[in-house]
Amino acid sequence: MENMIITGVNGLLGQKVLEEAASNFSVLGIDIHDYPFNTKLKFQYERLDLTDRRLVKDTVLKFYPQYIVNAAAFTNVDECENQKELCWKVNVEAVENLIYVARKIGTKIIHISTDYIFDGSAGPYVETDVSAPLGFYGKSKLASENVLLASDVEYAILRTMVLYGAGINVRPNFVTWLIQALKNKQQVTIVTDQFGNPTLADDLAAAVLQSIKLNKWDIFHVSGSEVIDRYNFALKIAEVFGLESELIKATTSAQLNQQALRPLKSGFIVEKAESELGIHLSNAEEGLKKFKRQYKKYR
Ligand SMILES: NC(=O)c1ccc[n+]([C@@H]2O[C@H](COP(=O)([O-])OP(=O)(O)OC[C@H]3O[C@@H](n4cnc5c(N)ncnc54)[C@H](OP(=O)(O)O)[C@@H]3O)[C@@H](O)[C@H]2O)c1
Repeated sequence: MENMIITGVNGLLGQKVLEEAASNFSVLGIDIHDYPFNTKLKFQYERLDLTDRRLVKDTVLKFYPQYIVNAAAFTNVDECENQKELCWKVNVEAVENLIYVARKIGTKIIHISTDYIFDGSAGPYVETDVSAPLGFYGKSKLASENVLLASDVEYAILRTMVLYGAGINVRPNFVTWLIQALKNKQQVTIVTDQFGNPTLADDLAAAVLQSIKLNKWDIFHVSGSEVIDRYNFALKIAEVFGLESELIKATTSAQLNQQALRPLKSGFIVEKAESELGIHLSNAEEGLKKFKRQYKKYR
């Protein structure tokens, strides 16, 4: 069996990659917490701060993985504006640390990036479109891509967006937050002018495993297949989950005044990922229906 390290294994994507990989790889899961959130699957777990190069080196050399799936990140977009130093350490320096040791032993890195590397003036984007991040999170993720590009390790970069799904102890995402709010009969205001492709985390995890299986070391846009604005996505969530859509009110980004600027007209064209990785990426409704079947299990 080949060895795989999954960083951020307690996060949403990390848990999904673990579910896909646990039976076919010998897995070492890494995260910042003292214990693994998933205690059902067979894998080793180590608490490790990826910003500590010496510890990263020791751990990776000891486990000697063929692959590192880097699902760890500082993912709070607004907090990245307040905590720039920490955001850079986790999103960029940690990747440098992984490269530093991966190149010594020929480990391939599968890294996850984001549509926030684009400015959202002309989406949906293909992989070769010019990046121009608006906020610090996007800047840090673009820099994480660039350190891989400049390195001599083999890597795949899977860019994704509006990730949702269910996991153990994972923090709320747009879909789980909205379901909870509507169940509590809470009125919510959702922007009509932010466009993107909502992505079921399970679809992204399948793409990670396919890039390994098919030896595809390249940049891919891996998201849901449908570009939709947040307000209409919210209405779809209400419809699929049988919740009150009257509680959803429309607003604009200017009115909402979020701390970090968001790419407005974003979105991905996913043909390259679908054809080269041999995967099917769900549209908004399909993804939500799949999600509904697993949602109950995690509540
Ligand atoms: N979520 C989205 O909508 C979205 C969109 C586009 C791209 N992405 C990218 O997709 C990837 C996975 O996202 P996700 O939503 O699954 O993330 P997540 O749920 O926030 O998981 C990330 C995990 O990494 C851990 N971590 C943070 N700092 C660490 C450190 N120094 N050392 C070790 N572990 C550390 C986090 O711990 P704490 O929770 O304690 O911080 C968390 O368990 C990330 O690269 C993200 O940038 C996400």
